[in-house]
Amino acid sequence: MKTLLRIDGSPRKETSISRQLANNLQEHLKREGDSLLHRDLYYDDLVQLGNQDQVDAYFIPEDQQTEAQKAAVHNSNILAQEFANADTYIIASPMYNFSVTAGLKTYIDAISRVGISFKYTEKGPVGLLKNKKAYVIVTTGGTKLNSPVDHVTNYLTTFLNFLGITDITFISADEVVANQEQAIALAKEQISIL
Ligand SMILES: Cc1cc2nc3c(=O)[nH]c(=O)nc-3n(C[C@H](O)[C@H](O)[C@H](O)COP(=O)(O)O)c2cc1C
Repeated sequence: MKTLLRIDGSPRKETSISRQLANNLQEHLKREGDSLLHRDLYYDDLVQLGNQDQVDAYFIPEDQQTEAQKAAVHNSNILAQEFANADTYIIASPMYNFSVTAGLKTYIDAISRVGISFKYTEKGPVGLLKNKKAYVIVTTGGTKLNSPVDHVTNYLTTFLNFLGITDITFISADEVVANQEQAIALAKEQISIL
């Protein structure tokens, strides 16, 4: 029995291609007894831009934090712990202006936490998340994935690796403007053989 954590990074709902593919992938992956958690990054009150108290609290032990810092870091604590506890991730990431959406970036800044998802060592930072599996769905309008202007694939690989997550499968529906139906069909085919 596993815990699947689905993370939706599109502000679009019914028309979102990444959500449609995440639905498909979720159905494909979820086994009886697995639990499914869902963070919908544009519609989740826990996902907010940080302030100074929040960022300061990232590096101050809880028993030494001010009340303002404790309050500011509360949501990040929940999101980071939830992320660390999950076994499998479904990350639906549309490309916005060559990178991830603001919602996904805000979430990333909340879950990347010293002592929860990584630690500092003499040799530099080391990820604390082991034996995890990540599926990343990337959708684009006209940008080819893995081209020099794709700042989603490499960025998410680097970030997940930083936390210790190295088993990553990308599912792509890129250049959907040219042929949306074909791009979706190809992505669903990728999912069906996982
Ligand atoms: C604000 C905005 C910025 C976008 N930037 C890019 C981009 O840089 N490159 C690209 O290929 N498509 C871009 N797109 C198109 C989206 O990647 C495409 O519509 C994709 O399907 C969005 O995912 P979704 O369908 O899950 O919402 C952009 C769309 C919006 C609304």
